[in-house]
Amino acid sequence: MKIISIVGARPQFIKAAAMSRKLQGRHEEILLHTGQHYDYEMSGIFFDGLELPQPKASLGIGSGSHGFQTGAMLKAIEDVLIAEHPDNVLVYGDTNSTLAGALAASKLSIPVVHVEAGLRSFNRRMPEEINRVVADDLSDLLLCPSQTAVTNLGAEGITRNVHLVGDVMLDVLNWATQRIAVDHSVVLNRFGLTKKAYLLATVHRSQNTDDIARLSRILSAFNSIKETIVFPVHPRARKVIIENGLRLGPQVILIDPVGYLDMVGLLSSARLALTDSGGLQKEAYWLGVPCLTMREQTEWVETVEAGWNALVGCDEYKIVQAARSFSPPDARPALYGDGAAADKCVDLLEHGLEPMNLAERADYANWCK
Ligand code: UD1
Ligand code: UDP
Repeated sequence: MKIISIVGARPQFIKAAAMSRKLQGRHEEILLHTGQHYDYEMSGIFFDGLELPQPKASLGIGSGSHGFQTGAMLKAIEDVLIAEHPDNVLVYGDTNSTLAGALAASKLSIPVVHVEAGLRSFNRRMPEEINRVVADDLSDLLLCPSQTAVTNLGAEGITRNVHLVGDVMLDVLNWATQRIAVDHSVVLNRFGLTKKAYLLATVHRSQNTDDIARLSRILSAFNSIKETIVFPVHPRARKVIIENGLRLGPQVILIDPVGYLDMVGLLSSARLALTDSGGLQKEAYWLGVPCLTMREQTEWVETVEAGWNALVGCDEYKIVQAARSFSPPDARPALYGDGAAADKCVDLLEHGLEPMNLAERADYANWCK
């Protein structure tokens, strides 16, 4: 098969790494990079560190409003799909690149495969929630990381070609932990950190960065925590911090975003994670690091139910108290599969998708003219 994988943002490079490794040698995979993320620390570093093949098509769309960004991607992706005639298109997660990819492919009658389907926060003010709902509705094969995701889709009437496969991010994490087992201390030494004597923080959600009051409360909480906090700053947060002159205490070590292996090293040695990231909540769980999520909802409800993740919103007092006293139980049941999700995804790609029939092929060929 000829498969086009559409990626554009940091977590998608990581998810695509799991799939790419399994597709190589079995199928022709073309990586299409929308250019949603473009700084080396947000993009190239993942291609290098995760040994991802270079994208065959780089659209260079860049940043902008949702309408501009999604619209520009839609047009440019369509051109590539028409030129390449893939058998199907893979989209990942919930970014604007996911939405544009699903829309472009489905309008050309190319089967859409959604990896990480069915996630819901039930908060339509999140741009990601809109992207997920639309991408799932347009998808022909829906690959879910959790039973909750399958149930969410069922509640929206989506039951056909829905499969529980587990989370491809666990596949990548397992690969990474084997890789860094030997030189785990290198990244700690680089930032002068001591194992289990610091917190790891990330903030990038638009709800937390575009609302200056929320971001100020979060940063005030960081300043009130009397432990070292290492904070790889997403460019979105960096911009707001600089433009508004927000100050951080001396115990907060601001660093540029790091590559995946360094991030896994930093997370696995942290005493606690403070984040609004989706991916980090799960990685913290898998690595046995307690997590405080600075949001009001999470899509990864199982981590909260297991007692290893707590929703603390942007309430300064709650964040500081929880950072001091949050204590997960001893038990940490396996969540989101067994680390072989990508194998299941590829198997379903090969056997779970009806190939285009002749009428559909003719329809598609007409479109392409
Ligand atoms: C996007 C996704 C979000 C995902 C996140 C992963 C959408 C709607 N949001 O959010 O779901 O969790 O990626 O990190 O798709 N910027 C740079 N350099 C870059 C990339 C971005 O400076 O390489 C800055 C720009 O000022 C840009 C801002 O960050 O306007 C936001 O980038 P954008 O891709 O629009 O959204 P994210 O917040 O990264
Ligand atoms: N990550 C990374 N370097 C960083 C910050 C995050 O490698 O400086 C990884 C993190 O370990 C996780 C993924 O990026 O695998 C999460 O991406 P992000 O938080 O940007 O997006 P989300 O998961 O919230 O969509």
